[in-house]
Amino acid sequence: MNDFQKELCGNLKKYCNDSIEPHMEHDDCESKFRMEIYKGLGEYGVTGVTIPEEHGGAGLSYVDNCYILEEIAKVSVPYAVTVSVSAMVQSILNEYGTKAQKEKYLPALTSGQEIGAFALSESHSGSDAASLKTTAKKVEGGYVLNGTKMWITSGGIAKTYIVMARTGGEGSKGVSAFIVRDGAKGFTFGKAEKKMGWKTSPTRELVFQNCLVPDEDMLLNEGQGFTVAMGGLDRGRTSIAAIGVGCAQRALDEAVKYSLTREQFKQPIFDFQGLQFMLSDMAVEVMTSRLMVLAAAQSIDDKKTNSKLCSMAKLKATDAAMKVTTDAVQVLGGVGYTTEYPVERFMRDAKVLQIVEGTNQIQRVVIARHLRKEYEQHA
Ligand code: CAA
Repeated sequence: MNDFQKELCGNLKKYCNDSIEPHMEHDDCESKFRMEIYKGLGEYGVTGVTIPEEHGGAGLSYVDNCYILEEIAKVSVPYAVTVSVSAMVQSILNEYGTKAQKEKYLPALTSGQEIGAFALSESHSGSDAASLKTTAKKVEGGYVLNGTKMWITSGGIAKTYIVMARTGGEGSKGVSAFIVRDGAKGFTFGKAEKKMGWKTSPTRELVFQNCLVPDEDMLLNEGQGFTVAMGGLDRGRTSIAAIGVGCAQRALDEAVKYSLTREQFKQPIFDFQGLQFMLSDMAVEVMTSRLMVLAAAQSIDDKKTNSKLCSMAKLKATDAAMKVTTDAVQVLGGVGYTTEYPVERFMRDAKVLQIVEGTNQIQRVVIARHLRKEYEQHA
């Protein structure tokens, strides 16, 4: 971390500890999202980190962004995810949008006044994203969308949605990407999911019934929507990995602190070698994950986005988050399983990191496809 990043994260840590942490246990119980917290993060300048200043962003690097997400995740994985998914929408608009689309949609997102969401998955197309069935039929002046999107992070609280729908034949080449606003005629919200974790981040169905999207709200051209989605996911997966690092770091912090003060058999439990080995392994998992996240983020900053590395970082950091949070609960023992300490919440929040933005099995598919290409090229 350079001096600028240290100062940025130090100040952000104070904001998160003062303004988010006190609500987390209650809001997790009540599944309550607070827009004022999100807007507060916006005022803090962390809801549009990598977007150029001309569109209201902070114009910082992707590496900076990962440190920021890690810091928010140490206090709240769900708020970090809300920031991260909205940032993915912004990076899609910034990368693939026209000048008019950027000017129209980015400022409210970068400032944190509004939230963005990404709608790819459907009930029958999760991992096999290219088999999606939502249709976008060409009509005079635009496209008419029909279908239902599932498991949409920030569904209902977001105002700007990137929606992938089918304009052509089967497969990825028949998919196009659209910008749809909350309030568009024919666009409603369906079932709100009840989940194991991420309780303060709403997950909801999006329902499109003859929803007219004007031509100017298509991203790129017909048939290029899958590229838009996959390009966005390279960045999104790196962000989810950074959140995994923050989640794991918090669990490690809690476990070390507890084990230094909790005494059994007339000594702090930290002094037992069995526990020292466990805590050391947890620390190695956190550090290895952080280094992989930084390598993936650096490839994005260098404008040489390395999809294989992004998938590797997502796979490693989110598996590490699951392992480290589970071990932290074990270190705390009985109280670790109760809401008296936050480790059980971080363990529940870690689980879905292994599933969203491509399951960790899909990350292995992406990595293996790159390996095949690299080795066939050099054969
Ligand atoms: N960047 C740009 N383009 C890419 C790309 C990338 N990283 N990866 C693939 N593409 C392009 C390919 O080049 C190809 O284009 P051409 O045909 O012109 O060459 C096209 O996309 C199709 O690629 P594939 O043949 O590899 O497609 P596939 O059908 O075999 O699927 C897959 C590949 C990796 C399995 C993909 O379907 C996938 O990632 N599945 C998981 C879906 C996913 O991550 N969903 C998460 C949704 S969001 C979420 O979780 C919650 C939320 O709210 C954020």
